[in-house]
Amino acid sequence: MDIAEELKKGLCSHPKYIPVSLRYDHQGLHYDAQCYDLEEYYHYRAEETIIKTSIKDVVSNLYIPCKVFDIGCGDTKKSQLLLNELLQYQNTVDYAPIDVSKDSLNEVCDVLYQIYGDGLKVDPMPDEFFKAMSKIRNYRGPKILLWISGLQCFPKDSQLKMLSNISSTLEENDVCLITADITQNKEVIERAYLTFDETRPNSKLYTNGVHVLNREFETNIDISQLKLEGRYVEDKDVSSSSYIQVWLHSLCKQSYKIDKLGMTLTLEEGEKLMLHGGNGMSHKYTIYQLEYMFAKARLRILKKWENENSALLLCKREM
Ligand SMILES: C[S@@+](CC[C@H](N)C(=O)[O-])C[C@H]1O[C@@H](n2cnc3c(N)ncnc32)[C@H](O)[C@@H]1O
Repeated sequence: MDIAEELKKGLCSHPKYIPVSLRYDHQGLHYDAQCYDLEEYYHYRAEETIIKTSIKDVVSNLYIPCKVFDIGCGDTKKSQLLLNELLQYQNTVDYAPIDVSKDSLNEVCDVLYQIYGDGLKVDPMPDEFFKAMSKIRNYRGPKILLWISGLQCFPKDSQLKMLSNISSTLEENDVCLITADITQNKEVIERAYLTFDETRPNSKLYTNGVHVLNREFETNIDISQLKLEGRYVEDKDVSSSSYIQVWLHSLCKQSYKIDKLGMTLTLEEGEKLMLHGGNGMSHKYTIYQLEYMFAKARLRILKKWENENSALLLCKREM
């Protein structure tokens, strides 16, 4: 399903929603990067720490040389920790950054060239997850699929599909390396994700999907008539995970014609426009929940590293 189909499906659902992926244009990724510096936004710093402290161990478990496919690469700053370590063992690294944000990907390629020159053979893939996976399946040779800060963004039912897809893409010597947020402290989570203020980068990132919708689909949804709200849902069941829900609360009845989608969006006063599909986003897992989901996706966890907030999982396909 392309983004227009996905968006139309979301806007015609009950409740109506804007898919998470839509918020990640060039500007969205800029807000995302700014979240790193928010004091209470623990997640990216925790991930960076776990990758930094375990990366030698990670690389010692890899089949080298291997090509790196970086799913939802963003600004690649955390991915560079892996690239730097691989370059200790290989003269060059084949690297395929994958992202839906085409503009950002072009910019990232320029930055990577400045840093690595010819040491990195960059093969950008401006693709959505499933399209990228079908292309990766045609690649012959050892590979590592890297997915940093990606899994938890998507609704729970999509996560299993995505992990199963990754699993079926892996050949015998291939691995995937995936991070997950394992924070369980409710206060810490609520402070990081549910402190809303229109000047904050996390609030701007949540609502960026509306700006992208206005721009790309030529409509004029009035953000001043929508109020950002959210909640944290705790779920410790082994087959679930905890998550955040964020939505825009419509302050009045409003209607917008969206010719490019062949529809009119009407929001009643008090209606919620969810800023993600499915149950939620920014999922938080216990280790048991991760083990359960990975096993269901036929991914065998070879090794895991964890700190208070983040887990890094090195996995193989269950043959
Ligand atoms: C939370 S950011 C993480 C970025 C980077 N991996 C990091 O850890 O800093 C999620 C990334 O996934 C990308 N993304 C979102 N939806 C996607 C999709 N359906 N397919 C591919 N990339 C996607 C976004 O553009 C963004 O770069």
